[in-house]
Amino acid sequence: MAGRWKNTLTENDVTTEAAFLNRRQIMAGLAGVGLAGIGGAARAAPLQPNSWEDITSYNNFYEFGTGKDDPARNAHTLTTKPWTVKIDGLVDKPGDYDFDDIMSKMTIEDRIYRFRCVEAWSMVVPWNGFELADLLALAGVQSGARYVAFETLYRPAEMPGQKAPILDWPYVEGLRLDEAMHPLTIMATGIYGKPMPNQNGAPLRLVVPWKYGFKSIKSVVRITLTDKQPPTTWNKTNAREYGFYSNVNPTVDHPRWSQATERRIGGGLFAKRVPTLMFNGYDEVASLYGGMDLKRNF
Ligand code: MTE
Repeated sequence: MAGRWKNTLTENDVTTEAAFLNRRQIMAGLAGVGLAGIGGAARAAPLQPNSWEDITSYNNFYEFGTGKDDPARNAHTLTTKPWTVKIDGLVDKPGDYDFDDIMSKMTIEDRIYRFRCVEAWSMVVPWNGFELADLLALAGVQSGARYVAFETLYRPAEMPGQKAPILDWPYVEGLRLDEAMHPLTIMATGIYGKPMPNQNGAPLRLVVPWKYGFKSIKSVVRITLTDKQPPTTWNKTNAREYGFYSNVNPTVDHPRWSQATERRIGGGLFAKRVPTLMFNGYDEVASLYGGMDLKRNF
């Protein structure tokens, strides 16, 4: 990704929210090069990130309970050091990749992304992370690979939700290879310049901003390159309601609710719902789905 603007922030830099927001103002002037230029910024209003409090206290992480405040309360039990990510399947260099080693090889960037949950709420999150494509390049993707499968840690002793069969553990997700290689797709390792909080998927989680939030699998321990479409947790749970693609699409409703609008977290009790944008506003991914019926491939 030569020539693209990169910053030097590492997750060891602790940034206060106020300082971060100031820096964002500066970067907003760099249209087209930095994160301000990524993600349909021309079409949508400037992105004002949600507060640290919003982002870290209203979560979905069923390994720690199904309530929105359960992860913040329970996820302290998760130990994230040491952490390895197994990368296997159709790669030249399969193996267990140490998290610190990965971090030393990757360029950490700021990415302020809209985040749209399938439940029709949304936030704006200032992630720190690296492009998934760069990690896959480290392992060397073989020509037969078509899909990428992801797996969350399975450790019931530290993840109390896994003691009950709420979902078919471990949580798994998948992307088509071209989706995984898209420069918008990142492995996030922090928020607001601080290491990823446990409740948000420490130490590293996928973020695919044009897809519903459940695709953005947390606390990843395995990445497998494969030639077959991998199973995904919510699709296994209810195939009628949750498809493999799960692109944000205001014209395709969930069987039980409309996807035309969304509720911004942090907007207050009486905030108006806002229209949901196709691909969550990230129009640059439309070409990945040329000729596809997105109602059938939901
Ligand atoms: N990953 C795992 N392992 N377990 C989960 O329950 N929930 C998903 C996704 N990734 C989930 C997960 C859902 S439904 C959403 S909306 C997002 O994580 C929530 O991310 P956040 O809590 O950081 O906002």
